[in-house]
Amino acid sequence: MTRHNDHPHNPRTMVFNIIDWLHAHHPHHQFHNRTPVETKGRLIRWASLYDWVVPLLLGDERAFRQTTVALAQIKPGDTVLDVGCGTGSLALVAKEQAGPTGRVYGIDASPEMIAIAQQKAAQAGSNITFQVDVIERLSFPDNQFDVVLSSLMMHHLPDDLKSQGLTEIYRVLKPGGRVLVVDVESSTGGSLRQKVKDIAIHMHGGHRLMQNNVKKLVPLVEAAGFINITTDKINRQTSYVTGLKDAIH
Ligand SMILES: C[S@@+](CC[C@H](N)C(=O)[O-])C[C@H]1O[C@@H](n2cnc3c(N)ncnc32)[C@H](O)[C@@H]1O
Repeated sequence: MTRHNDHPHNPRTMVFNIIDWLHAHHPHHQFHNRTPVETKGRLIRWASLYDWVVPLLLGDERAFRQTTVALAQIKPGDTVLDVGCGTGSLALVAKEQAGPTGRVYGIDASPEMIAIAQQKAAQAGSNITFQVDVIERLSFPDNQFDVVLSSLMMHHLPDDLKSQGLTEIYRVLKPGGRVLVVDVESSTGGSLRQKVKDIAIHMHGGHRLMQNNVKKLVPLVEAAGFINITTDKINRQTSYVTGLKDAIH
């Protein structure tokens, strides 16, 4: 299916069409017995390719994950949830920071992503609980987490689900707990290397984010009840928003 009106041999059109193909014909044959859960979010079922695509977007992925964990101010002993955790790369670094007394959970609506996250945690000997779950209705009780992370996932949700998801994040955070939302930003121009990263953003589905950047999340974070909201760029491709759940709740 050619969704874009440009000339079919235009490189950008070709990338879009490859991504359309990946979404439509996800190579998840090894997990064919897994049934996706019902969600209005856009799942990534081509999980086995995901860890190859991400460095194109993030450059030094480990450094990016460490920056994310530092922005979230995770402390040893914290209980942390990563929503839309994908293949678990961020949760693994969060667990290093939370330490042996900390507990880290990752949820994703894509069973293929969760399967890979579980494999990676087992290989790393890291005690993280990964489970299939949806941000629409997180299967955790109220007031459980010191920190909730959402990395590169909000652009996979329609606007009403962004608000619903942020309300769910607020519910499961402890009073005084922190949310950190990281997502991709639109950008124009730049060097060849930056353009390659921009293509990677498109591969992430970021083309749908171009009119929907991180600044637009700030009022939604506020409406969900968060206070002390901060927002800034991380690098050319990504920005973040943080907020606190009032300690006197
Ligand atoms: C671009 S990936 C980001 C993965 C990971 N957080 C990272 O930083 O690399 C977005 C993820 O959101 C997941 N997702 C989409 N809708 C969801 C929903 N309603 N609930 C939970 N996860 C969802 C997708 O399956 C996908 O794994």
